[in-house]
This record gives sequence, C-alpha cells and structure tokens, in this order.
Amino acid sequence: MFKRIDHIGVAVEQIEPALALYRDSFELELAHREVVEEQGVEAVLLDVGESHVELLAPLGADTPVGKFLAKNGPGLHHVAYQVQDIDATLGALKQAGVALIDETPRAGIRGSRVAFVHPRATAGVLTEIVEPAAGAGAH
Ligand code: CO
Repeated sequence: MFKRIDHIGVAVEQIEPALALYRDSFELELAHREVVEEQGVEAVLLDVGESHVELLAPLGADTPVGKFLAKNGPGLHHVAYQVQDIDATLGALKQAGVALIDETPRAGIRGSRVAFVHPRATAGVLTEIVEPAAGAGAH
C-alpha cells in the first residue's frame, strides 16, 4: 500500500537557518515553499532524489509544531509514505483497526491530500500518508 517514503518531516524554530544547512551545505534543491495558516506552519520541501525533506516552522507557539518544539526541541517530527489512492488506503487502515487522527483526507502542501495515523498505533512514530497532486508526479 505504501509506494515509498514521500518525505521526512523535520521541526525547526526558523526556516532560514535550516535552509542554510539543507539547501546550502547539503546542496538539496528547494522544491516548494508554502505557508499553511490552517495548520499553523511554514513548510519547505527540498528534493532528495524522488523523496523530500520537509522543514516545518511554526507560525506561533500555540500551534501543533510550536507545541512539539516546546516539548521536544527541534528534530524529527514525522515520516510520510506516498500512496496512489488515499481514500482506499484510509479505508484499508480503518478496516485493519489502525487508529487514525484523520479519518478523511485533508489538504496538504502543493495540492496533495494527506492524513495522519495516530502515534498510539505506530509506536510513537507520527506517520503521514500522502497522495500527491496529479501534476506533482515528477517530484
Ligand atoms: Co509532512
């Protein structure tokens, strides 16, 4: 059901110093940058082959990533797997009794559809599933 790792999500305090590392020192190409008010984050995607690193900086302290940073500091936040049909995947996971945060997909960055599996079902690994937008196949 999971085709490959779409991205690794990394929580950071600020985007610019993280870009100095990932874009400038690691020489990863910046693929996309978007502020998602609804989720309280600024997100940046950098290409790593066909996968990505997703840098996430909170828009405020009272956001999911802001709370994560207050509790854990910067670091690995989630793993995202790519699927072809997120509705079918969510249906199969529900059928298998896997606890979900999102029972139905929500809008992700770059026109994707995403959903999160509950960490209690994944030994504490926050797990996202991603169905990319049709036009984003090259990334
Ligand atoms: Co993500």
